[in-house]
Formats: sequence, structure tokens, C-alpha cells
Amino acid sequence: MSDRVLHRLDEVYAIGGGPGANRAGLSAAEQEAHDLVAGWMEEAGLEVSVDAAGNLFGRLHGASDAKEIWTGSHLDSVPNGGRFDGALGVVAALEAVERLGPQGRTLAVVAFRDEEGWRFGRGCFGSRALCGRLRTSELENVDEEGVSIAAAVRSLGFGPIPESGWLERSPAAFVELHIEQGPVLDALGAPLGIVTSIAGLARLRVSFTGHGGHAGTTPMVRRRDALVAAAGFVLKVREAAEARESAVATVGYLTVKPNAANVVPARVELLVDARAPDAATLSALVDEIEAAAGDAHVQHLGRIEPVELDADRRAALRAVVEELGLLAPQLPSGAGHDAGVLAAAGVPSAILFVRSRAGGVSHSPDEHSDAVDVALAADALERALLRLSSR
Ligand code: GLV
Ligand code: MN
Ligand code: MN
Repeated sequence: MSDRVLHRLDEVYAIGGGPGANRAGLSAAEQEAHDLVAGWMEEAGLEVSVDAAGNLFGRLHGASDAKEIWTGSHLDSVPNGGRFDGALGVVAALEAVERLGPQGRTLAVVAFRDEEGWRFGRGCFGSRALCGRLRTSELENVDEEGVSIAAAVRSLGFGPIPESGWLERSPAAFVELHIEQGPVLDALGAPLGIVTSIAGLARLRVSFTGHGGHAGTTPMVRRRDALVAAAGFVLKVREAAEARESAVATVGYLTVKPNAANVVPARVELLVDARAPDAATLSALVDEIEAAAGDAHVQHLGRIEPVELDADRRAALRAVVEELGLLAPQLPSGAGHDAGVLAAAGVPSAILFVRSRAGGVSHSPDEHSDAVDVALAADALERALLRLSSR
């Protein structure tokens, strides 16, 4: 039953070259994935449209003009990412809507832009733009080549982006299907799970300035090595997270200038990704990290608050998972999702997780879900959309 889903995932995965998935947000590779999915939407008879941020919508109009039901996820990836993260939620949403055919409410399959934020440092670009959660100043953030978000959006033919967003006619519900990206469901022996809440996330850019110099002639005592300073900071970031239950913090991006074996590092720029399940813990974590940066320059790139998902839509997911004769465990998400942005903007949103294998590894080519679980997930999504569209 999930053959078409798996074949389509393979096609999306092949874009951008390996190893793993390589479709940076607002890049040509992400655009290629959007074009591919738009073609499938057209073949399925959906009405295709693209909004000012480049988010892709495929609508199957229903008999009534009641509020729509949205389902989907994202098509961009981290570098060397997994096959399922984001893409599964879009491809399975299309599958579910194709199988269902027209219902009472209009069903919309959505692919949001740049959920990962790999290229520009902040994620959920498309969903935040739509929901009016993106400040115009952020559009001036640049990637490593100096290309701004505004320029990337323009070069793909989208924009301008009004700060107030365009969620005028909010959907009745948004359901995102996503790989768990963790080990919990596997440990419980459950193919599917329902997400209760999403952890909050803060991103900081920290810049260390030292003195460049000759690696052979600059005495150790006279050095101001920016990388040594940054290394001490990275360890403090880890300690700050370890001191708080359920908090995590990562330095996963770092540039060294001039980055030569025989030159003392003059400048280091790094990104901190800090997360916690509640706002107070996140604030305390960020404060401690900022204090640990000392004289280094700290720029707050942004923060997404922790969010509870909608109890009523979660209950609908739980009911359909139980209808399939499965356990329906409820679990929090440490990863961010577009559904969190929509939920914070008042859209009743829910997330269905499908079990990760391979120890729950994600943001890696080793990310995996079994075909049988993918099939169950598509079935559950189909039933959930049917249930939600007939209310
Ligand atoms: C999205 O994958 C995230 O960074 O949580
Ligand atoms: Mn991801
Ligand atoms: Mn994702």
C-alpha cells in the first residue's frame, strides 16, 4: 500500500546529490523538490498554488466552503540529512488526499519552505512567514556566500513578504505526519505516536575575535587564539544543558578564519541551538550560555516558544491509531516542526509520529522507518483527514 509513497520519497531523496538528503531551504534543490511534488499534485487533480514565501499548496476542493483541513510538512533538509524528515509528511499527505478524493471540507497538502534553517541560521521560514512571525529585518540575514534571504526569495520568483503574514482564513486543523527522529516509539514497540508538545528553541550566533599570527613563531603566552576561546565556550554550552533536565544545547556550525594549518585562528563564528520543554528553562539556559560567551559578540537569531498541540485534534489522531488496532502513545517532540508555528498562531494542530529505526538517528543518512510503519502512518493520516473533514 505504501509503494507509491516510498517511490516518491526515493525521487525526492535523489535531488541534490548524496550522501543523504541535501536540499537547503530556498535553494535550487529545494525548488526542484517543490516542482516535482507540484507535478504530482497536478496529476492528482489538485489545484496547485504557491504563496509569497514559496510555500506549496495542493487543494482538493470539498463540497462545503467550511474552513479547510491542511496536512503536510517540508521538503528541505539539513546537509547529509535523512530520507524521511519532512519529505515523508508531504508525500504521505498527498497519498492520503489522493486516496480520499473530495470530501466535505477542502483538503490542502502543504509543503512549507526552509523548515531546517541550515542555510540562513533560523528555521520554519515558510510557516513563520505565513503566520506573520517573521520580522522584515530577518530577511537581511545572509548565507555563507553573502546572499540574503530576501535575495534568495526574489531569485526564486517569490515575495514580497508582508510582516503581518497571510493567514486570513485560518484552517480548521493542520495535521503533520513526521518521522519521530528519536528512540521512544521503538522502545515502546509502537509504530505510531501522537505528539503532545514541542520543545522551545533558541538560536544564537557567537563571534570570537582573536589575533591571527604565524603558527611557528607566535609564542604560546602571547597568543589570542579565537578557536581556543571558542572551544572553551563549546564545553560550557554542553555543561549548561547537562545541568537542566530535558534541556539540550548544540554547537553544530563553526567557521574559523583564516582556517589554515599554520595560522593562529583570528576569528571564529559559531551557532548555538538551545532547546528546552518549558520557556523558563529555555530562558535560564540561554542566559547561562550568553554569560559563558564572555567578551565574544552574541547575536540572538531568534526563539520559538514551546507549544502544546491541540487536545481535540490529538484525540482524533489517537482514535484513528486505536482503530488500526495499535497502541497510541503520547510523547513530546524535541525537534521543531512547522505544526508548532501554526499551533502558536492559533491553528488547531497535531502531529502524528511514525517510528524511527536505527536507534532513532535523524539528520543523518542513517535515518530510517520501516515500510510497514510508513504504510500504517499513511492509513492513519487518511482516516484522520476523513474524520476531521466530516465534522
Ligand atoms: C528541525 O529539524 C529541528 O531543528 O528541530
Ligand atoms: Mn529536520
Ligand atoms: Mn522535519
